[in-house]
Amino acid sequence: MSDLDIEALGEDFPLLEAIRTARAIRRLRTEPVPPALIRKVCEAGTFAPSGGNRQPWIFVAVTEAERRAWIGERYRARFRQYILPALERAEADPDFPEANVRNMRAALHLADHIHEAPVHLFVAGWKRRGETQAQALFPAIQNILLACRGVGLGASLTTVHLADGPEIDAYLGLSESTPSCALLPIGWPVGRHGRPPRASVDEKLYFERVPEGAIAPRR
Ligand SMILES: Cc1cc2nc3c(=O)[nH]c(=O)nc-3n(C[C@H](O)[C@H](O)[C@H](O)COP(=O)(O)O)c2cc1C
Repeated sequence: MSDLDIEALGEDFPLLEAIRTARAIRRLRTEPVPPALIRKVCEAGTFAPSGGNRQPWIFVAVTEAERRAWIGERYRARFRQYILPALERAEADPDFPEANVRNMRAALHLADHIHEAPVHLFVAGWKRRGETQAQALFPAIQNILLACRGVGLGASLTTVHLADGPEIDAYLGLSESTPSCALLPIGWPVGRHGRPPRASVDEKLYFERVPEGAIAPRR
């Protein structure tokens, strides 16, 4: 990977194809990602819209193995505490869709191997009037995920670390005014990108008004 032309990488990737295939990639190879490439995908983040163009985002890329291990310990423990029980219930339920079980298993795999992901990219941002502005950061996060897709990196969006938010933020040198809101584990994918399972847009799109009874209540 050392002879990568980082400037050219991903520049010709079709946007809509990237959007349709930027699924959560949770199985990552351990080879490092060049800092210039981390910079490139974060730069895509900086082109996101934000209220008043305040650009509240701060990106912290953790690459040192010891620091990733420290973060991984906390992520894994929280995942096992909060999400593993749901996976166990889903596995025991014959009516639970198999694709969703597979997705949860992939999330468990990530939790168990997150320390091996070569980049832990945290997205943090300035609070406004005392409130965390997650909505101001998610467009930047999605731009980064798409840029990863475009340059061939695997990535996913995670929030499990928020259960230990203040401790992890302090570890990252972030203050109470600039909490993190997402952790993107990034690396070269083991498998391939592909279309994720999604309901048809025809089940989601209405023109002018939603007809009465068209939206079934969620279980
Ligand atoms: C707000 C938000 C929080 C998420 N948190 C986590 C997480 O903590 N861990 C994880 O493995 N995936 C997390 N995900 C990823 C979703 O599980 C994933 O996007 C979804 O299953 C669709 O995956 P697919 O695009 O591969 O179909 C999160 C996604 C969103 C939008």
